[in-house]
Amino acid sequence: MNVFEYMEKHGHEQLTFFHDRVSGLKAIVAIHDTTLGPALGGCRMWNYAGEDEAITDALRLSKGMSYKNSAMGLNLGGGKAVIIGDPRKDKTEELFRAFGKFVETLGGRYITAEDVGVGTAEMVVVQQETSHVAGLPEKSGDPSPATAFGVYRGMQACAKAVWGSESLRGKVVAVQGLGHVGYHLCRHLHDEGARLIVSDIFPDRVESVVQEFPAMAVKPEAIYAVEADIFAPCALGAILNDGTIPQLKARIVAGSANNQLQEPRHGDRLHELGILYAPDFVINGGGVVNVAHEFAPAGYNRDRAYAQVATIYDKVARIIEISRAEGVPTYRAADLLAEERIERLGRLNRICLPR
Ligand SMILES: NC(=O)c1ccc[n+]([C@@H]2O[C@H](COP(=O)([O-])OP(=O)(O)OC[C@H]3O[C@@H](n4cnc5c(N)ncnc54)[C@H](O)[C@@H]3O)[C@@H](O)[C@H]2O)c1
Repeated sequence: MNVFEYMEKHGHEQLTFFHDRVSGLKAIVAIHDTTLGPALGGCRMWNYAGEDEAITDALRLSKGMSYKNSAMGLNLGGGKAVIIGDPRKDKTEELFRAFGKFVETLGGRYITAEDVGVGTAEMVVVQQETSHVAGLPEKSGDPSPATAFGVYRGMQACAKAVWGSESLRGKVVAVQGLGHVGYHLCRHLHDEGARLIVSDIFPDRVESVVQEFPAMAVKPEAIYAVEADIFAPCALGAILNDGTIPQLKARIVAGSANNQLQEPRHGDRLHELGILYAPDFVINGGGVVNVAHEFAPAGYNRDRAYAQVATIYDKVARIIEISRAEGVPTYRAADLLAEERIERLGRLNRICLPR
């Protein structure tokens, strides 16, 4: 790929490659934009088919973090790390120690955390080499419950916009993916009296949710077409596409999965069909808000963190308002909001401070 062309087009600041011959570490850190503050974004470990795929992933995901952190009102920029390797086979102590050393060399421009294939246990190892790490078990820990709470609040805001009441009582919600986030989301929905239709590719996950909450299970490919009020994608990206959108019966799409729209035009299509789409990087921002509270001057406090996660309701409501007032799809309204904050606060740099 033509790296500089891509970086210029998307506004990236930095792309750094790290290699350690002892541990075999091959890591890439992409820093998209640090206008708002140091770049925060997780470290993903994945068996990439090739280096181009890993580079593209790091660049794409780091840009997504700039938008998410901006939309969440955080004073943090966007970055992401990827480690090339199989998370089931290649994780070692020395690999994550080496990664931590390399993160330290970036001097705090990039703060790492867990992501797909990397958990809190690895972050504890990384912390031995750098203080530029978040999502630690003795602090904010696993971000998934906070993400699920944010999705639940965002869903309430969508319900208010569509049905005039934020209550989800009696609403039928189809949840795709019953992993870390999907499970906690089901709990919130059940507690509020929503009715659940669920699917996962692993029968044991379906079984445990169906045992715990009254939920109707359907096959993974059947979830799009069920008679539901709300569709909550909590599994994979790109699930809103030419094949799935025509099947949807729901009035609202609100879930945690990243990059739900296969292409921007699928966001336009949902808008044309009158299906309210809660932009993914806004509704799933609860996890990063929770992690960011580790940097609060008084230290991490769960109540304060969750109070800020709860404001995802207001953020989603504001995006719906802009979308309706300007006649633009919600995904576009969310982009504009995130870009506008970076632009507006970036202009503060013109004020010279005493040296
Ligand atoms: N964990 C977080 O805090 C967080 C934060 C922001 C975004 N997200 C995004 O939310 C989504 C879920 O995250 P998670 O942490 O719960 O992941 P997870 O891996 O714990 O759960 C994903 C679940 O989806 C299931 N799944 C995969 N393909 C499926 C399919 N075709 N149909 C039905 N189920 C399928 C998996 O079996 C798994 O149970 C991901 O897209 C993730 O990137 C998560």
